Amino acid sequence: MAVRGNRRGAPSRVGLTALLAVALELACPAGALENGLARTPPMGWLHWERFLCQTDCAQEPRQCISEKLFMQMADLMVSEGWRDVGYQYLCIDDCWMAPNRDKQGRLQPDPKRFPSGIGKLADYVHSKGLKLGIYADVGNKTCAGFPGSYGYYELDAATFASWGVDLLKFDGCYYGTLELLAEGYKTMSRALNKTGRSIVYSCEWPLYQKPMQKPNYTEIKQYCNYWRNFADIYDAWKSIKNILDMTSFYQDNLTAIAGPGGWNDPDMLVIGNFGLSWDQQITQMALWAMMAAPLLMSNDLRHISPASKALLQNKEVIAINQDPLGKQGYRITKDSRGFELWERPLSDGAYAIAIMNRQEIGGPQAYSFSLTFLGNGLACNPACSIQQILPTSRHLGLHNWVSFLKVVVNPTGTVLLKIVVIEEKRDVSGSHSLGVL
Ligand code: GLA
Repeated sequence: MAVRGNRRGAPSRVGLTALLAVALELACPAGALENGLARTPPMGWLHWERFLCQTDCAQEPRQCISEKLFMQMADLMVSEGWRDVGYQYLCIDDCWMAPNRDKQGRLQPDPKRFPSGIGKLADYVHSKGLKLGIYADVGNKTCAGFPGSYGYYELDAATFASWGVDLLKFDGCYYGTLELLAEGYKTMSRALNKTGRSIVYSCEWPLYQKPMQKPNYTEIKQYCNYWRNFADIYDAWKSIKNILDMTSFYQDNLTAIAGPGGWNDPDMLVIGNFGLSWDQQITQMALWAMMAAPLLMSNDLRHISPASKALLQNKEVIAINQDPLGKQGYRITKDSRGFELWERPLSDGAYAIAIMNRQEIGGPQAYSFSLTFLGNGLACNPACSIQQILPTSRHLGLHNWVSFLKVVVNPTGTVLLKIVVIEEKRDVSGSHSLGVL
């Protein structure tokens, strides 16, 4: 358990965060990185999938990784309503650095692409009511070959804190040995704590460890706020399918560990780009909500269709993703036709249900299921009210425990529902009435 203190001892927000962290430790002693952060999955924007490592601003002035790109995104996150629905973290990925450290050994941004420096960019982002994320690597080099943090963990953490950074994505390329990988992730976590600044810590530790060693998620959660388990997402249905299949294959381990303060990260939302059909975009949004995933969009907010924007800003879906109970959903069944039924327990005894049609041939298909299947028989017992959230919002009415529900799902699409249980109440006159639990 690590609590970030306030180095200056001033009664600031950081001090409050530390107090909150102490309170949380008392409330939940099980070892998690209780730094008071990421109590629900972080939401924001991350440049990698859409903008990759474009460093040529002369040829590609609008696509290159530069302070201008992040300032434009910050402006749009506010003016287009992204911040107001919860997308708060504006995150820089790889390729922001100069090829060498400065004379004092500190990381520095590329002077041509970030002429004002990261501190100034952080001030700008903060002035918009947003937070700034940055990227570094546990090994000798970042994945794209920029300076790694190995041997500089404390200095790099202090540098990021001095710039006012709010989130660190810590990659694992060139990590050396498995011992160094684990030691590096832990040392950086402690170093971030020591800075006294509240910095969300995003890890890729299990992803790099997995080919050789079974990840110890209990330990990982003690050090990280969220962590990648599977290969990088790309802008295609195949990539979404792979991530969903891997997640359901390992779901017993993954769902057991996820919760406030520590989340599994199935990687960025690629909605609003080029590779996914409309139904597939719905599936990504619905299933990322079911998985209690960090919602980090990687798209171009300057060019996004109104439909993709509405999907990403859908408040009912975001509410499921951000549900305060913080339980990750899981797949209950997959049938021979390729239908998958997922459920996620929500606060107040409610459930989110996703029905995905994995067929890639034909047209919309009907799927019927018994409500007794859901929530170990409790989701609709004795009755429930069902709201469809995706693909469109509509009320599906009241149902009994023994009812069957029929939904129609497009190929590669998903229907997302919220089920609120209704308990039977006996009123004074002795007759029966239904009330929301
Ligand atoms: C790795 C990570 C990606 C991205 C790139 C950057 O592949 O998994 O998410 O950060 O490095 O080089």
